[in-house]
Amino acid sequence: MDTSERIAVHPILGVPEKGRQVQFTYNGKTMSGCEGEPVAMALKAAGVMVHRYTKKRHEPRGIFCAIGRCTDCVMVVDGVPNIRTCVTPLAEGMDVRTQDGVTPLAGDKADKEEADGTI
Ligand code: FES
Repeated sequence: MDTSERIAVHPILGVPEKGRQVQFTYNGKTMSGCEGEPVAMALKAAGVMVHRYTKKRHEPRGIFCAIGRCTDCVMVVDGVPNIRTCVTPLAEGMDVRTQDGVTPLAGDKADKEEADGTI
C-alpha cells in the first residue's frame, strides 16, 4: 500500500493510531486500508478523489465537509447507495463503488423520470 498520502506524525496529535490492514475493493480493484478509518480516507490515501457524479450534470464530487453533512462523498457500499464514506468505517471485504447520480432504486420517481428522459 502506498502510505505517502498518510500523515505519519501529526504536529499536535502525534502518531495516529491505526487499525490492522484490511482489503476492500474499489470499482472492482483490490485496495487496502486501515480497519476503522473512514472509507473516504482509505480512498484518498490511494489517490481516489472522485466519489460520485451528480445526477443532472454528471459533475465529479468528492470529500468536501468530511463530517457527514454535505453528501458529496456518497458512494455505493456493499450494494447500498448514498453511503457517506467520510463517516463510514472501513471493514474487511467492503465493496465500494463510484455512485452515478442517485443510483436507481425500485420506486424512485426521480430516477424513473431521468431514465425516461422526462427530466
Ligand atoms: S464529505 Fe460531506 S458528507 Fe462526506
